Amino acid sequence: MLFKRVKPLDQILATAEKKALTRQLGAFQLTMLGMGAIIGTGIFVLTAEAGQKAGPGMMISFVIAAVVCALAALAYAELASMVPVAGSAYTYTYGVLGEGLAWIVGWALVLEYTIAASTVCVGWSGYMNGLLANHGLGLPAFLRAGPMDGGMFNLLAFLIGAVVTFLLIIGTSKSAKVNSILVLIKVIALTVFIVIALPKVQDTNFHPFTPNGWGSPMGGIGVLGAAASIVFAYIGFDAVSTAAEETKNPNRNIPIGLIGSLGICTVYYLLVSYGAIGSVGAQPVTGPGGIMLQPGTPEMAEACNGSAALVCSKEALAHALRVLHHNWWGDVIGAAASIALPSVILTMTYGQTRIFFTMARDGLLPASFSKIHPRFHTPHVITLTTGLFVSLFGAIYPVGQLADITNSGTLFAFMMVAVGVMVLRVTQPDRKRPFRTPLVWVVCPLAVAGCLLLFVNLPLRTLEVFFGWGIVGLVVYYLYGRRKSHLANGTEPA
Ligand code: ALA
Repeated sequence: MLFKRVKPLDQILATAEKKALTRQLGAFQLTMLGMGAIIGTGIFVLTAEAGQKAGPGMMISFVIAAVVCALAALAYAELASMVPVAGSAYTYTYGVLGEGLAWIVGWALVLEYTIAASTVCVGWSGYMNGLLANHGLGLPAFLRAGPMDGGMFNLLAFLIGAVVTFLLIIGTSKSAKVNSILVLIKVIALTVFIVIALPKVQDTNFHPFTPNGWGSPMGGIGVLGAAASIVFAYIGFDAVSTAAEETKNPNRNIPIGLIGSLGICTVYYLLVSYGAIGSVGAQPVTGPGGIMLQPGTPEMAEACNGSAALVCSKEALAHALRVLHHNWWGDVIGAAASIALPSVILTMTYGQTRIFFTMARDGLLPASFSKIHPRFHTPHVITLTTGLFVSLFGAIYPVGQLADITNSGTLFAFMMVAVGVMVLRVTQPDRKRPFRTPLVWVVCPLAVAGCLLLFVNLPLRTLEVFFGWGIVGLVVYYLYGRRKSHLANGTEPA
């Protein structure tokens, strides 16, 4: 039943055509768009969580996560160039595997975009709190982190979510120029870090290399557990494919934007993690009796109390520079992160509103949800609802837990895209494919296998949230979307 109601691709293309957005983005802007969405909390903050999970072996985790994301990106590029319309994995699935699975993917993308935005809110608060504290203006401890992380309410995470929501409601969209400047700030900050840290690298900091081993399914720890978390650092490349509708010559430019932004970021991430591990060390902290500790748990918060270990820091890169006696540069990195990370929150929250918007355009969500504000011309109801959840989750949950939940939804969507590419090669072999996934019968199965491997290496508690969310989604679909679907009812709006 889930496989019925496939929305013909031609119909998807026609709908998009009717509400056509101006095609104005080129390969360079797309790569910048990708890097703008990719570089964020992952490298600036989650380096600490990855160290706690894998120790220096997190470098392998960075490579594994990059390979899996690159495989998924190659699959994304084929669908994005064939169906260059908004909605990303949700739209592709609708056109290939049918409405039921598309709904599930759309529902999983809520985890990807909304929770990712919350994750970056928490990441931002880590740097901002660090900056304020370093200048004697620190907030009381209970307002610096959520209840599981040694505090009560992460005030700054909440506030930044609220500010971004407000900006989106009044119609702020990041211009390509502002985006490019922010990318430049992030790239310069990472470069400064690399230049300072690399000469301080000491071999001894790489031993033991994999203190927690490779990890085991649902354990959420070890090299594979860290890779499952590190996926977060690469998320965002698919923002390029969601911009397909606004891209000039999408057939050529989308694949360049996807693979280009991913490739550049991977090189940077490897250099940064090598510098951080080698200069200040990244061995995990342990609990009583030497037990492994999962980041984002009260036990970990307890073990980290007063510790200067990198894995305990909420502002890993600035902290590393301070440990290396570069206090001033630590502040500069902190300032760069504080300036640039909100744009990732904006991109993610915006992405969520557009996915909801596309789902409402298909009748799967109430039309009232996608109401446009008379003055600001933005979907204010969707934006306010999304923003409220972004802020609240950011105020309450630890960054690592949010990142893992984001990754569960993302890896699921990646798998669906790779499956979609293979199905379409069989069912519609003659359809025009401006970009063809190279070695499709190797790349796509590997993408599915890689995503699955990382998915099962997320912590058990994350998988419980994912499946719980999925069940809620199915109930909503059967109670609402299934009956109201424009495709089923033939009520496609003109
Ligand atoms: N990849 C983005 C980040 O790390 C989501 O913040």
